[in-house]
Amino acid sequence: MSDASHEVTLSEGLATTRSIRRYLPEPIPEDVLRDILFGATRAPSGSNRQPFRFMVFTDTEKSKQVKALIAQGAQTLWNFKRANDGYDAGSGSEENSPKTRMANTMENYVENFAEVPVLVLAILLRYRDPNPMEGASVYPACQNVLLAARAKGYGGVLTGFHGYVTKELHELLQFPENAFIAATITLGKPAGSHGPVRRVPMNQLVYGDTWGEGASWAIDPDGTAVMKGR
Ligand SMILES: Cc1cc2nc3c(=O)[nH]c(=O)nc-3n(C[C@H](O)[C@H](O)[C@H](O)COP(=O)(O)O)c2cc1C
Repeated sequence: MSDASHEVTLSEGLATTRSIRRYLPEPIPEDVLRDILFGATRAPSGSNRQPFRFMVFTDTEKSKQVKALIAQGAQTLWNFKRANDGYDAGSGSEENSPKTRMANTMENYVENFAEVPVLVLAILLRYRDPNPMEGASVYPACQNVLLAARAKGYGGVLTGFHGYVTKELHELLQFPENAFIAATITLGKPAGSHGPVRRVPMNQLVYGDTWGEGASWAIDPDGTAVMKGR
């Protein structure tokens, strides 16, 4: 991989790969795309079958069509979520609350979705009936996309924005029948900065031998940005 000397460590990358939804209006060079997608293709899968495929849309005519199509899906989904998840209720009416900031970020993301620098579709090629484990053969590869992008100073976010337009995408891209669209990932150079992910303290998520009891050693490293609760 190029530029290795400037990369963050793996541990640092794990703690700072948060969703990036605002991008500078610049393309991702092909050698960087190569490195990011190489990372994706190194992911594990059940029996090492590697049933994941990626389509990468940049600035070709077809890419623009795909971005525009999924932008419609994004708008539909966000309108639904905004109303349904009460984004405008409670602290959503306060100017600078986390809820309001999230709503503004989403609004901006969805509005500019058709112009994202790169859009990646992650596909699972089903080789048997759907089962609860099948996502585990494609989502690790998706996370690798985000981690590898982070390593190169780029960022992105995994979304389900294709959900409302899967039929149209199947037609436009002539997917085989067993292709399941697992994720839409957008990528680009962050307009803001990378920063620590915010999660609840690890002892709320990691138990020892007793259900519900944080393991005694499950202590966040000093300086970890934690959420008070969910
Ligand atoms: C399964 C899954 C589905 C997601 N779907 C969306 C989505 O449709 N739109 C979006 O903007 N972000 C989506 N996200 C990103 C999450 O909102 C984000 O990871 C979460 O809020 C934590 O924030 P962080 O990644 O910045 O730490 C999704 C993430 C996952 C893992």
